Amino acid sequence: MTGLLGTRWDVMQAPIGGAAGVDLMVAVARAGALPTIPATWLAPAELRTEIARFRASVDAPLAVNLVLSFDVAEHVEVLVAERPAIVTLSWGADAGYVRRLQAAGCRVFVQVGTVEAGHEAAATGADALIAQGGEAGGHVQSEIGLAVLVRGLVRSVGLPVVAAGGIADAGTAAAARAAGAAAVVAGTRFVASHEAAAADQWKRALVDAGALDTVLTGVFDIGWPDAPHRVLRNSTYRAWEAAGAPPAGERPGEGDVIARAGGADVVRYSDVPPSLGVTGDLEALCLYAGQGVELIDEVLPAAAIVELLRR
Ligand SMILES: Cc1cc2nc3c(=O)[nH]c(=O)nc-3n(C[C@H](O)[C@H](O)[C@H](O)COP(=O)(O)O)c2cc1C
Repeated sequence: MTGLLGTRWDVMQAPIGGAAGVDLMVAVARAGALPTIPATWLAPAELRTEIARFRASVDAPLAVNLVLSFDVAEHVEVLVAERPAIVTLSWGADAGYVRRLQAAGCRVFVQVGTVEAGHEAAATGADALIAQGGEAGGHVQSEIGLAVLVRGLVRSVGLPVVAAGGIADAGTAAAARAAGAAAVVAGTRFVASHEAAAADQWKRALVDAGALDTVLTGVFDIGWPDAPHRVLRNSTYRAWEAAGAPPAGERPGEGDVIARAGGADVVRYSDVPPSLGVTGDLEALCLYAGQGVELIDEVLPAAAIVELLRR
């Protein structure tokens, strides 16, 4: 198999928040794909521990994601010391970080949602781009469909392009490759895996949903304001919509504590999804989901998902 940038992988597990526990990442790596640690919300010491736990289980390349809407300067220092094979940056690009990480031996991929952002990322010296189409689950940088974005980047930027957004089966993966993607990324599809550290209720909801059960909204904004996200239309979303989609401060049930996560209260409209260990009204939490739910018929082992998406 010829992989991206001379590596042996061509399937990547997206950073999927708390759902990307070590069990999932190790299973993805053992299947020959590239796992990603979502590092932004880990304390720097926790990030070091997470990398060590992964490396104690499997000798395989690893990616680590940083969201540049937040202060990640200390995380970058951890990565310079730990030297994961790939660092992915999203919600921005920073030439200083790119240079520092590359000097440490990491390759840096930048997730973008427009062709213009692709050119800006290329100017920082990035090694590759991740095209995130508007179909994607989680926080979404794009309003452009994946195929058009991949083609636009491939035609004009001159860096390898990895495709993310709505990739959930062999056909969607093949379509992204046909558009010119050198590798494919899946997020939502891996949430609905046996090994993901996500509540069963969230996994089942992904299996039961169709594409139109997802919506790109800004409503789950507590914790990360002004960043559109694609989620399932659940009871919280429907009650807000039925109330006429009022602004923050006037939303139904705002301030209600509806769950507990890591010993802390979780209020309605928070950006916290029902990862494993979260208790309370799980259905009412932020249920990140991409349009690819249309194609997710069962919860599968991570290795079976990698096999589905493979060239
Ligand atoms: C539960 C969840 C959490 C996510 N968290 C992050 C994140 O921390 N950083 C990031 O760059 N992207 C994040 N994303 C977006 C992914 O990087 C990727 O673009 C997306 O999952 C691709 O679309 P798909 O879900 O349809 O496969 C997240 C996606 C999901 C579903």
